[in-house]
Amino acid sequence: MRAQVTKVISVLFLVALLSIRGAESRKSRKPKPETLTYSFEYTAINCRAHSASLTDYGGVGDGTTSNTKAFKTAISNLSQYASNGGAQLYVPAGKWLTGSFSLISHFTLFLHKDAVLLASQDMTEWPVIKPLPSYGRGRDAAAGRYTSLIFGTNLTDVTITGENGTIDGQGAFWWQNFHRGKLKYTRPYLIEIMFSENVQISSLTLLNSPNWNIHPVYSSNIVVQGITIIAPITSPNTDGINPDSCTNTKIEDCYIVSGDDCVAVKSGWDEYGIAFGWPTKHLIVRRLTCISPYSAVIALGSEMSGGIQDVRAEDITAIQYRIWGPDQNSHRKRRICERHICERNDNAYHEMGL
Ligand SMILES: *[C@@H]1O[C@H](CO)[C@@H](O)[C@H](O)[C@H]1NC(C)=O
Ligand SMILES: *[C@@H]1O[C@H](CO)[C@@H](O)[C@H](O)[C@H]1NC(C)=O
Ligand SMILES: *[C@@H]1O[C@H](CO)[C@@H](O)[C@H](O)[C@H]1NC(C)=O
Repeated sequence: MRAQVTKVISVLFLVALLSIRGAESRKSRKPKPETLTYSFEYTAINCRAHSASLTDYGGVGDGTTSNTKAFKTAISNLSQYASNGGAQLYVPAGKWLTGSFSLISHFTLFLHKDAVLLASQDMTEWPVIKPLPSYGRGRDAAAGRYTSLIFGTNLTDVTITGENGTIDGQGAFWWQNFHRGKLKYTRPYLIEIMFSENVQISSLTLLNSPNWNIHPVYSSNIVVQGITIIAPITSPNTDGINPDSCTNTKIEDCYIVSGDDCVAVKSGWDEYGIAFGWPTKHLIVRRLTCISPYSAVIALGSEMSGGIQDVRAEDITAIQYRIWGPDQNSHRKRRICERHICERNDNAYHEMGL
């Protein structure tokens, strides 16, 4: 085993204006202080007027019965309270096998500390949706992608939390199919929230995701806090948290061991990302512990064609990680250069030392 590198980075990083457009941003590396505004309008957690348990809707926590229908029925029923104080769905102790399901606005999904959501391996439980507009194609296969286990789009005020309850993606099944080239569509993420605002994801343990773990995309005011993410260090693309074309994202107090970047900042892919043109901006990452021997602690890209602005990282503890710089890795260099941003990325990677 190679020597462990332990490094505590407590300096404040300001990496700004990584926009791929505009000669102006190319000249000024440092943002003006007044451009750094981190205003999170969302602070509430769990103050819902109504609450119900998954068992009220036929949920069975035996680890073998599918609860996809119970989740869907419960959430659909609770949607009646969206404009009347909101609702919480409580998942009690137990092993709750489920396929993909979607959240609603003014809603909290709350996991008991001994609740485990187990991702189904029945492919009919994973509806296929279109590629993301800023990517144009899937990452594993060109066609569509399997909907994430917990999915939400066009929402406001949504919380996924618990007492450190667990979401287990049972990813080995997906990783094998990926390595054997057997996937028709891109593997699902554990949590994906699209076109939404005021999102809180906190106090959970995420295990063995089939693909990325947490993917907020085209969203704003996102808080990811107190999340433990664990996947084998050799598992494919098990990135921790990937803010993608998002504004105002706060990631704090997370512990991540995975097979890919702990945090990867994204904004779409090549011509699709450029055309879509939504940068990720005003991102703060603090008190992150990362173990990722083959990847980065905080990666800017790849897939950042819509630009990245104002990234702040503080109190990062990195135990075993790889310095991804164009000099160290020609493959990475090629991928970055294809996106016409070599120079800026070279500087960014070196400046951050990540
Ligand atoms: C859905 O909510 C209504 C109104 O509260 C309730 O009467 C009904 O029993 C609920 N349905 C289920 C399946 O629990
Ligand atoms: C969600 O919002 C996006 C952007 O505003 C819009 O293009 C899309 O049609 C909306 N989708 C749904 C399901 O409402
Ligand atoms: C949550 O659970 C994980 C896995 O058991 C554990 O490593 C972590 O320390 C727990 N976090 C908290 C805040 O209790």
